Amino acid sequence: MPTSLELIIQSLPFLLTGVLQTLKVTLIAVAIGCILGLFGGMGRLSKNRFLRGLATCYVDFVRGTPLLVQLFIVYFGLPPVIQEFKIFLATSFALGPFTSTSHIPPFVAAVAACSINSGAYVSEIFRAGIQSIEKGQQEAALSLGMTPKQAMRHIILPQAFRRVIPPLGNEFIAMLKDTSLLICIGYAELTRQGQLIIGTTFRPFEIWFAVAFLYLIMTLSISRLVDYTEKRLDTNGNH
Ligand code: ARG
Repeated sequence: MPTSLELIIQSLPFLLTGVLQTLKVTLIAVAIGCILGLFGGMGRLSKNRFLRGLATCYVDFVRGTPLLVQLFIVYFGLPPVIQEFKIFLATSFALGPFTSTSHIPPFVAAVAACSINSGAYVSEIFRAGIQSIEKGQQEAALSLGMTPKQAMRHIILPQAFRRVIPPLGNEFIAMLKDTSLLICIGYAELTRQGQLIIGTTFRPFEIWFAVAFLYLIMTLSISRLVDYTEKRLDTNGNH
């Protein structure tokens, strides 16, 4: 029987493939989440009641339901509906043939669910960031003859951008840890890789600690990086 250290060293390459997958899904999800969040955040602040309602429904639904359930909706819930739709097209309009059964690859389902989820959290981060800029800033910009759009673009958004960096970093870290839920659809991220190794080595103690440690290395590095970026951008505007 290998010693604990030997076991961990032997398992490391396999675990590291999981680390890469975890980072990949997190990066893509938070990047798409930022785009969704920009629309969501603006929607929440919009004067248009319809847009505001739409954005609020999105944010409330996503933040008020578990990510795991959202993942199941995308991975298990959507394929039968897609299948029905294909059959409908085939029978009603003689389109097709659609022979293959509908199946969403785990990676696609993972990115879709995590992006939609992250987008809702990022919407709130952006909304709060914009609202945190003192009203005087806008008033000053308007008094200089800027239009409200120009004030938003040149005065408010640049300041808000600096303020949202720390919460965006937190969102990234939260998402990174929450990707461990992807084990439930069999996606080969870090937690899943750990589980697979335990299935053959029967050494849960060492492996789960190794998995935890790898997550810790990732989250600590990201929070250091965020601290550094925040200092570089000087949130207070002091030089
Ligand atoms: N843990 C919460 C859930 O299961 C949040 C998941 C996503 N977190 C995030 N920051 N995007 O619903």
